[in-house]
Amino acid sequence: DHVVPFDGEHQAGIATAAQDRLHFAAFDVVSDRREDVAGLLRAWTEAARRMTAGRPPGPANAVELAPPDDTGEAFGLTAARLTVTIGFGPSLFDGRFGLAARRPAALRDLPALPGDELDGARSGGDLCVQACADDPQVAFHAVRNLARIARGTAVIRWSQLGFGRTSSTSRAQDTPRNLMGFKDGTNNLKAEDRAALAESVWVGGEAPDWMRGGTYLVARRIRMLIEVWDRASLGDQEQTFGRHKVSGAPFGGRAEFDAVDPARLPADSHVRLARPESNGGAALLRRGYSFTDGLDDQLGQLDAGLFFISFQRDPDAFVKVQSSLARDALNEYIKHVGSAVFAVPGGTQPGGYVGQPLFA
Ligand code: HEM
Repeated sequence: DHVVPFDGEHQAGIATAAQDRLHFAAFDVVSDRREDVAGLLRAWTEAARRMTAGRPPGPANAVELAPPDDTGEAFGLTAARLTVTIGFGPSLFDGRFGLAARRPAALRDLPALPGDELDGARSGGDLCVQACADDPQVAFHAVRNLARIARGTAVIRWSQLGFGRTSSTSRAQDTPRNLMGFKDGTNNLKAEDRAALAESVWVGGEAPDWMRGGTYLVARRIRMLIEVWDRASLGDQEQTFGRHKVSGAPFGGRAEFDAVDPARLPADSHVRLARPESNGGAALLRRGYSFTDGLDDQLGQLDAGLFFISFQRDPDAFVKVQSSLARDALNEYIKHVGSAVFAVPGGTQPGGYVGQPLFA
């Protein structure tokens, strides 16, 4: 089946089995009217509801004298399991829209973190749209049409295409490989672990009403220094993660899903430092994508890496893990060049719109 239901207790695109492609966009609101923001969220929700069902975002496509309601490039394609997930950045609550008192305490700019070499032009944003689909044209079409609908109210601040999922978020999926050639997502939270998601992903009574059933999205554009990595020996590569490259097995194990024995992993290995057991139980739902954007201007090296996305009940869980990763052997091969955090409100019912309880 090519359709993922849009409405539900939680927004789709979080516990949904990760699709193959991503188009992510962060927006700045350019209007100073709260009604415009609410109207945009309603229009986005209605268009997203239609597009995720495999229909055009608007009804009018045969009026000779007006631009069509659909840009057209997805006609004839299936919905390709499209999901559209909408989030609100900390800056949406800065006072422009009278929302300051309703900002959840957990939603604030991330602190400076180890590995940061951030570019402001690839960071932040008042709103975000995560479009995931199994067809890149479908994901592009969704973001393009939402940006078109936003005209006059919000503009794209930065965007990111992802060409391959780097996580499995369901036990029904194979574990994909990231651009370093390692299986990524083996020990991820999985959609089937409902209790773990309730504990570590979905917001509960600690947050304002409008965030119930929601979560927080952290996005990090992580550049991989591919040329350096490709010169590292297989042994060094495996020591970096504490897992074997081809099988994905942890050191001391034989198969991918064998239990991790931390005593067998190098003290500075990524898996040892990132595990919940090393971080006071902090667990993340990782749902990132590989990216490449050609060559960098300075050195002519591949500008490629991981567009890391994680969902968690509190962004502090990410901060905790990333702080532990200060000692990560992987840091020799990566740098974090973009960063953003968004509150992702709970899901909608037919007729409602994302964030309605916040604006009502
Ligand atoms: C595990 C790669 C960045 C958190 C892993 C694994 C790989 C990997 C290969 C082992 C397989 C698995 O269990 O999924 C990478 C690469 C990164 C990166 C290439 C950067 C380019 C991050 C970041 C975080 C993170 C920024 C969070 C701050 C985790 C966690 C695990 C993990 C929580 C699971 C550890 C466990 O419980 O066994 N990563 N990762 N990773 N990574 Fe990363």
